[in-house]
Amino acid sequence: MAPLLKVEHITKDYPAGTAAICHALKNINFEIQPGEFIGVMGASGAGKTTLLNLLATLDQPTNGQIFFNQQALTTLKGRSLAQFRAQQISFIFQDFKLLDRLTVAENIALPLRLQAFTNQQITVAVAKIACQLGLTSLLKIMPTALSNGQQQQVAIARALVHQPALLFGDEPTGALDSGSARALLETLVTLNQKTQISILLTTHDPLAASYCQRIFYLKDGRIIQQLTRQHRTRAEFYQAIVQLLAQVE
Ligand SMILES: Nc1ncnc2c1ncn2[C@@H]1O[C@H](COP(=O)(O)OP(=O)(O)OP(=O)(O)O)[C@@H](O)[C@H]1O
Ligand SMILES: [Mg+2]
Repeated sequence: MAPLLKVEHITKDYPAGTAAICHALKNINFEIQPGEFIGVMGASGAGKTTLLNLLATLDQPTNGQIFFNQQALTTLKGRSLAQFRAQQISFIFQDFKLLDRLTVAENIALPLRLQAFTNQQITVAVAKIACQLGLTSLLKIMPTALSNGQQQQVAIARALVHQPALLFGDEPTGALDSGSARALLETLVTLNQKTQISILLTTHDPLAASYCQRIFYLKDGRIIQQLTRQHRTRAEFYQAIVQLLAQVE
């Protein structure tokens, strides 16, 4: 099967004060297959957000190439880049980024409003994803009236309503209590299995990482370890991740 994402020899340098350069990513290489659920771990400053931003076309690598379905992201310009962002990828964030002045339904509908969907198509799509995530009774409510865990579920509904191929999450469980974090991760696993959406999230938390199928561990801008869950139970994978962290941190 052709990979969904192929990352070849990526580096990212940032200017860091007078004449200094921060080498945030150094020669990163990997492939992600369609339907994979990947976790990116690493200490603060390791380069997790930088990597996610490059994959999501929010920033460009200094060197190297990223291919999405065998097309180099650097060849996407103007309209094709806008279409890629609007249709193929999606995000969830630590702080949810819901719009307080819109209802839950209006928040979920946003990605469709940015494309040429009719009101009826939007209503049907919002109702469908809300039902999948158990949010139907909340659709008319303002997000500020919801718990953190509920707000993150709404953010997932918004991220998936237009059926993207790839969902990015930058520490999506970071602001949640452990019960809400587990609920979110279980939702992601179910959606990943049902819809074959590929997911890539960054996390510091071995519990969150244990829900993924494969982990990349970044240190000082390099992937120094990979761990695949394979036939392990989630509890066994969690133990393996904790052991990995004990070795590398
Ligand atoms: N816009 C920027 N300008 C300059 N340096 C940056 C910029 N963004 C990130 N860096 C540097 O790049 C390195 C990697 O940062 P990054 O934010 O990717 O780390 P991270 O693994 O996401 O950390 P955290 O766990 O704290 O979110 C750090 O040394 C950081 O200071
Ligand atoms: Mg980060």
